[in-house]
Amino acid sequence: MSNIDDEQPRPRILMICINRRFRMDEPSCAGRGSEALANRLEKEIQSRGIKLTVERTNCMGHCRTGPTIRLAPGGKFYFKPTDNEIAALLDEAENLCGTTTDNNWGPFINFLGS
Ligand code: FES
Repeated sequence: MSNIDDEQPRPRILMICINRRFRMDEPSCAGRGSEALANRLEKEIQSRGIKLTVERTNCMGHCRTGPTIRLAPGGKFYFKPTDNEIAALLDEAENLCGTTTDNNWGPFINFLGS
């Protein structure tokens, strides 16, 4: 008998790269709008009550295709997601992580090193 937890770990974190490179001619997620996307994801996850913490991270090594997002642990990467892909990602996260109306649940948002 298999357990769904054995097949796919439940995501706990939505990582989003907000790295900005010193050289402005080099591609980076922040240079491609990841900070605004992080703000949007944080608001939507919080308003839906999805039990998922948004963590703004440093470079994940996909600078040319960012903004880079990843569900962790073990989740897939998303690169420069469209509005439809973001909606699908949030629906998937809600399905995998569940929701809460408990205002004390959290944190929904986590900053680097905190
Ligand atoms: S700058 Fe975001 S993955 Fe490198």
